[in-house]
Amino acid sequence: MSTDRITVPSLRARKTRDGAEPLVMVTAYDEPGARIVDAGGVDIVLVGDSVANNVLGYNDTLQVTIADMAHHVAAVARATPRCLIVGDMPWMSYHLSTADAVANAATLIRAGAQAVKLEGGRARLPVVEAIIGAEIPVMGHLGLTPQSVLAMGGYRVQARTADAAQALMDAAKALAAAGCFAFVLEGVPDVVAARVTEALDVPTIGIGAGAHCDGQVLVFHDLLGLGARTPPKFVRQYANLGEAATTAVAAFAADVRSGRFPSDEESYHASAELTEALGPDEESALGAAPSRGD
Ligand code: KIV
Repeated sequence: MSTDRITVPSLRARKTRDGAEPLVMVTAYDEPGARIVDAGGVDIVLVGDSVANNVLGYNDTLQVTIADMAHHVAAVARATPRCLIVGDMPWMSYHLSTADAVANAATLIRAGAQAVKLEGGRARLPVVEAIIGAEIPVMGHLGLTPQSVLAMGGYRVQARTADAAQALMDAAKALAAAGCFAFVLEGVPDVVAARVTEALDVPTIGIGAGAHCDGQVLVFHDLLGLGARTPPKFVRQYANLGEAATTAVAAFAADVRSGRFPSDEESYHASAELTEALGPDEESALGAAPSRGD
């Protein structure tokens, strides 16, 4: 595997129809997560606004701010991953004005992202153009856009009618023409994702969008079995780290309570001089320590 950092230009043309390997994107929200994801050989680490549900305990992504996202992007960037770092623009960070959107995108870039992602269709064209105009690469996100949960009336599969599928196709083409270098397609029928993928010259990355995208993305906590929720049907869980972690914590608690932790090897020991200076066991609150001086 090459050790060169992955860049936006190197990803822009990654179409499976042209023989490219499918792109792999995984979310991460902190330095250890980014190290794990990068060591796993992914192409893109997405610092998703799903940090809201997966790390911060919120029920939806509407609660996170640009300051929250910058904090998590910076933590991920400290892992200096080889993969491309994409920072998610949170709700209300690109809805008020284009100037505001560009400034907020720049905040994520200065925190360490190399591109930003934002949700929505044709209504986002002005901000996408403005952000790209500021030399910041933009990944689009179409279909089930979690920041629209209230407008959608829940997390529902989108583009289920011919008109809705056509609207999604039109939006994808318009946003690609505006310069988006890739798209997340979330929660859409596989045939719709396949058609959009075929129509675009930039890669699509699916989540709950079937097998015919140019890549796939999963949320770190879903993939590793760290989440509290029952994952949606499009998730494949590759490990159950939540269960392994609970077992480990329970073992620690049992060892502490039974006196098995810490052992002599896990303790620091006083020098002979210190032991002597501390005096006999019965006079010292510190008690008698073996005099190995480590
Ligand atoms: O925030 C996120 O995790 C996302 C993925 C679902 C693509 O946007």
